Amino acid sequence: MTNKKYNLIRFFSTTTTVLALQLTLPATVLAGDAFTIKDGELQRPTGYREWVYVGTPVTPNDMNNGKAAFPEHHNVYIDPNSWKHWKETGKFRDGTILIKELVSNGSKAAVSGAGYFQGEFIGLEATIKSKKHSPNEPGNWAYYSFSGKNHKTLTATAKAFPAKSCNACHKASAADDFVFTQYYPVLSAGKGAGKNATGGHLTDLNNSYIEPKGKK
Ligand code: HEC
Repeated sequence: MTNKKYNLIRFFSTTTTVLALQLTLPATVLAGDAFTIKDGELQRPTGYREWVYVGTPVTPNDMNNGKAAFPEHHNVYIDPNSWKHWKETGKFRDGTILIKELVSNGSKAAVSGAGYFQGEFIGLEATIKSKKHSPNEPGNWAYYSFSGKNHKTLTATAKAFPAKSCNACHKASAADDFVFTQYYPVLSAGKGAGKNATGGHLTDLNNSYIEPKGKK
């Protein structure tokens, strides 16, 4: 074989391998569930800060007569495979997991003004939609908490709460299939939005925002 021919073959075979890898890799990485349930207990998920961040609701005590049900900030994440499904179909796939990381309310002042700023990590909760693991839960959603005593530790595993503790309120008031997407702009704007869900593709934001009076 001449050198030229050999180089040509080598070029094509490497290009094909690289292409094949690019085509198969994301599917392989994203396939399957992002959680493990063993003997009915959810193992505490790790690595979720590298999933897709969807929003941060906060209902502070001082806006709720000093006794908010959930006074801290909630940073919410969805696993990448379920995000992909959501932005393509506008539905939560079987196997969706959302993580709610609890963060204390920290300082109420910054050089930018007064407000609510995040403090420290103080707990972790999760919700999972799974026919296999929660066939009898409403919507197949089960709810878990890993928050330890006095919010100082996290447990290694968690059992699902009874439906009346968590599912009922989620079912009654959440915008999409038990999930409070109305408070997660990444999910509400990204619902079935395809590539627009990934950011940076829109010029017209198509929102209902009203600029506050007095702003120059
Ligand atoms: C009184 C209503 C209510 C009850 C009861 C309730 N939640 Fe929620 N939950 C909410 C609201 C509202 C949000 C979104 C806003 C926020 O985080 O404050 C939310 C968000 C969540 C999220 C983020 C994903 C999502 O579905 O939006 C998780 C995880 C979660 N709750 C877990 C739990 C667990 C675990 C329990 C039971 C121990 C529980 N919740 C009970 C109202 C409730």
